[in-house]
Amino acid sequence: LSHFLSVEKLTTQQVFSLLQRAQDFKNSPTRPEFTREINVANLFFENSTRTKLSFTMAEQKLGLNIFPFSAQTSSVQKGESLYDTLLTMSAIGIDLAVIRHPQNTYYEEALNQPNSQLNLGLLNAGDGSGQHPSQCLLDLLTIYEEYGGFKDLKVAIVGDLKNSRVARSNMQMLKKLGAHLYFSGPSEWFTSEFSEYGEYVEFDQLVPQIDVLMLLRVQHERHTDLAQEQAFSAASYHQKYGLTISRYQQMQEKAIILHPGPINRDVEMASKLVEAPRSRFVKQMTNGVYVRMAMLEAVINGRQMGGFKCNKR
Ligand code: CP
Repeated sequence: LSHFLSVEKLTTQQVFSLLQRAQDFKNSPTRPEFTREINVANLFFENSTRTKLSFTMAEQKLGLNIFPFSAQTSSVQKGESLYDTLLTMSAIGIDLAVIRHPQNTYYEEALNQPNSQLNLGLLNAGDGSGQHPSQCLLDLLTIYEEYGGFKDLKVAIVGDLKNSRVARSNMQMLKKLGAHLYFSGPSEWFTSEFSEYGEYVEFDQLVPQIDVLMLLRVQHERHTDLAQEQAFSAASYHQKYGLTISRYQQMQEKAIILHPGPINRDVEMASKLVEAPRSRFVKQMTNGVYVRMAMLEAVINGRQMGGFKCNKR
């Protein structure tokens, strides 16, 4: 892979080999030796705790040179475009840029400039409501560790579907891997896009049947309908669509709960359940480091194998 932008075009074989590589990293302290020093910068134009820190940890474990970048103190504040920011980085010697950006497919413009001299690999750390490939892979690894596969697993994705890049990446990949998908939460957030991947089922009907319950954060920052946002009640959401203690008790013994974080406690799930036996919230964050190592390695290898450009420095 010369860039890691989306899970949409990944084959199941590529996914399994990334998961295998992540498990290798998790189970062994050895790290790959690259033929030369590799320089990376993390560009976050949207807030993040897990993804940013965990990419940084992954980069450190791989022995990459990490160059600090802050959108707030960069020349982006003087109006410099993303493309010109990346061109600057590429000219200075940065090889990889990990980017989170509020605009869907922000990378298209940067990668499709005519006569471009840009020479760096991009890893998408989340684009608007589009894709979140590293979150998808860490969710897959967490499910794989539990069930050893995906075929015929019943997976429910519940909550703020419309705004969720986590839902989009996961539904595309889980369907390809043979899981059965169900959606729930406020029905107005279940648009026709989702019905291609699975059916909408009332939350209380789903809870006792599913193997994996993937809860989504209510993304207030992306809610543009002011009236709806003002009418939002955390208590009412929790009662209708949240994982309450009583719903938790109705889940199958072996079922697991995922949440990408950050969690709105007592909204998507009862605060007391965040670290409950069926919750894999902490494990997901740990797994994030190892899948990001696998993603970085895939792009590094892809660019070294893929052409002379990456080797010329
Ligand atoms: N899951 C996730 O993307 O979390 P952060 O926004 O904290 O990175």
